[in-house]
Amino acid sequence: MLKNIRGVGDLLRGKLEARFRLLTIIGRVVVPEYRFQWPFLDWFHDEEFGRFLDRFGVSHDCNDGRRWMLGQLLRLTARVPGDTAECGVYRGADSYRICAFNASLPDATRTHYMFDSFQGLSAPTAIDGTHWKQGDLASPLEVAQLALAEFHATVFLPGWIPQRFAEVADRSFAFVHVDVDIYEPTRDSIAFFYPRLNPGGIFLCDDYGFDSCPGATRAVDEFLRDKPEKALALSDGGGFFIKGCVTC
Ligand SMILES: C[S@@+](CC[C@H](N)C(=O)[O-])C[C@H]1O[C@@H](n2cnc3c(N)ncnc32)[C@H](O)[C@@H]1O
Repeated sequence: MLKNIRGVGDLLRGKLEARFRLLTIIGRVVVPEYRFQWPFLDWFHDEEFGRFLDRFGVSHDCNDGRRWMLGQLLRLTARVPGDTAECGVYRGADSYRICAFNASLPDATRTHYMFDSFQGLSAPTAIDGTHWKQGDLASPLEVAQLALAEFHATVFLPGWIPQRFAEVADRSFAFVHVDVDIYEPTRDSIAFFYPRLNPGGIFLCDDYGFDSCPGATRAVDEFLRDKPEKALALSDGGGFFIKGCVTC
């Protein structure tokens, strides 16, 4: 009883924990399968990250945990030689993070290569379930170009994956981000970039582990079946491996 009264008082005073507990009570009723996470996280208040989210207007699109992890994983590759690539660029938010990181490195010699149809998703197949349809997430090339205009070491390769991969066949990579949501382009991307990833380089698949993207998870797991590396599934979604790092 006393505990409840204190809880109501905290709520009226607007205390974060009390507001959050109310949210979990509502959540248990409305979305019982959802697992809340504590709101007391330092990265929620990271100013540079907050500016980045605001720049792309993505503060509340439920992808910020994965965008944060992308930045953390990039840091692991600081000493790995090679360029960076993204397959699935959309409006350029994740590529912006990658380019900003590349530009911050002392030698800053990396080029960032970007692959996207800029016409949305290609046709999903039965493996991909029913969440996506052809043409979803279409955004014109010019939007991404404008978003990344401040960076110089960037190359846009518009087209259907894997059509333009041959143009970087002689490059090697430190970090590759694949975010195309469905099986076929994820399969083609991992097959192309795996042998070009330098030891210690990271392959990150944004869609790994999502019920809504079963094809992407399958493409990664199938490819890694006979490789020493296996994907590590992140709690906010997405999965990655480090080239040369044996995983059970
Ligand atoms: C989820 S969005 C990428 C989001 C992006 N990483 C960001 O920072 O916001 C998926 C992108 O994959 C692209 N895409 C999907 N299938 C493709 C394919 N077969 N070939 C080329 N691009 C594809 C879409 O055009 C879309 O821009």
